[in-house]
Amino acid sequence: MEIMADKNEWGSNMSFILAMIGSAVGLGNIWRYPYVLYSNGGGAFYIPYIVAILLMGIPFLILEYGVGYNFKSSFAKAITKINSKWQYLGWLLPVAVFMIMIYYSAILGWDGIYMVLSFFKGWGADPNTYFTANLLQASSSYTGLTNFIPVIAVAMLIGWVIVWFISHRDLEAGLGKVSKILVPALFIIMIIIVGFSLTLPGASIGLAELFDPDWSLLTHFEIWMAAFGQIVFSLSLGMSIAFTYASYTKDDADLVTNTISIALANSLFENFAALGVFSILGYMSLQSGTAVADLVTQGTGLVFIVYPTVFNVLGQWAYILGPLFFLTVYLAGLTSILSTIEPLSFSIQNKFGLSRSRTMTILIVVGAAISMVYATSFGGDLLGYVDTFINQIALLLGVILECIIFAWIFKAERLIDFLNSRSKTIKLGSWWLVVVKYILPIFIAIIWIGGLIDVINAGTVDQLVFTAISAAILLVATLIFTILPAKNPEWENTEERV
Ligand code: PFF
Repeated sequence: MEIMADKNEWGSNMSFILAMIGSAVGLGNIWRYPYVLYSNGGGAFYIPYIVAILLMGIPFLILEYGVGYNFKSSFAKAITKINSKWQYLGWLLPVAVFMIMIYYSAILGWDGIYMVLSFFKGWGADPNTYFTANLLQASSSYTGLTNFIPVIAVAMLIGWVIVWFISHRDLEAGLGKVSKILVPALFIIMIIIVGFSLTLPGASIGLAELFDPDWSLLTHFEIWMAAFGQIVFSLSLGMSIAFTYASYTKDDADLVTNTISIALANSLFENFAALGVFSILGYMSLQSGTAVADLVTQGTGLVFIVYPTVFNVLGQWAYILGPLFFLTVYLAGLTSILSTIEPLSFSIQNKFGLSRSRTMTILIVVGAAISMVYATSFGGDLLGYVDTFINQIALLLGVILECIIFAWIFKAERLIDFLNSRSKTIKLGSWWLVVVKYILPIFIAIIWIGGLIDVINAGTVDQLVFTAISAAILLVATLIFTILPAKNPEWENTEERV
């Protein structure tokens, strides 16, 4: 079966930029960044943060875009073309990113449930007990896998159906069009929420806490690592998504300027989110007499426990702010989850000659079926283990290898003239080569070693067992894609644009 190029092409540069922003702006911006900023020196964090964006975020994205654009084909196909011995690595990142998709669907499902609950504060007087005991029926033992929770399963399946509805269409008709609506909507709703939060009594208490700079931390290694880690996660660097999205672009893209716009929009959004989160925590602190430091948390605790607790004391306004807040999280999660299927889907289309629509349908059915392990009492804990393994160990290793292959073996120098000839803003020079060849792989390797040590030190026996199982699944699935024979005669045949 021949693949029609137009099924995998953006209709315009705007679709590409908005879909990329949709992928970058996700839960990491809403529930991770505010806490990272607060716990790493407040205002002083901006110095390592800006350095991380300039030194790593932008140069790496340019590299990933440049190589993706050059090959105009999937990640697995391009890596195989660079050197067929590395086909395995070409599948590793897309499979790992697909594993993210599977657990992201659980968080979307929980959020969908909270969107409904927020209309009547259905979490009751004690949001903590509601979330862990009533909704998740959380059990920290793997025997919890046998306790299936239908309401979570249904909420997750609704998310999968929405994803299928968008993804199985041609790229522009589905993802392109949806990004053009949802991403601006996401920004507008966020502006409304933050605008309102800033007017709450006590907002300034939260903001003063957030930005109170602790300059002494600048000499600490950890805050630099936190900044680099945040940028890798938030911009989804090196995860083969930026690569895939760039390969879908037409021939006239200014990738350098696009990169700057995307990095800027992502930072704008997460800093805006931080204003909102801390204004609300300041309000809560004023109402409850609890210090902001004792309220602040991140992740599921922030979204599903702290926020509902705040909505409980907020009176009537909570019926507007609550649904808007959970809608924002849903849209941010949805536009990110849509990106996590693209690298594997495009790689499968390229190797096995299946159509986009068919590949998406198969992947979504398989993903939805596997995701049901998260609709059990052990789901919450399992999600934490898989997330730590994928983000701190598997992906970062992939990113280091990708950086080496692209910068050294593909040779980043090949891209400079081409990128500069399109760029209306900055021009790349030898500084960019130094960054992508030396500084980036070294920095990411340091973050990776730090993460690995964390997991080994902090991990319980359960965590280590489930990390090993996740690793085995990832490695075997990757192996299967690598050794299955290609069905598409075009697989070995890649044109290059640069
Ligand atoms: N960049 C997303 C965020 O900040 O929430 C998270 C993410 C999405 C990470 C997709 C990885 C990924 F493949």
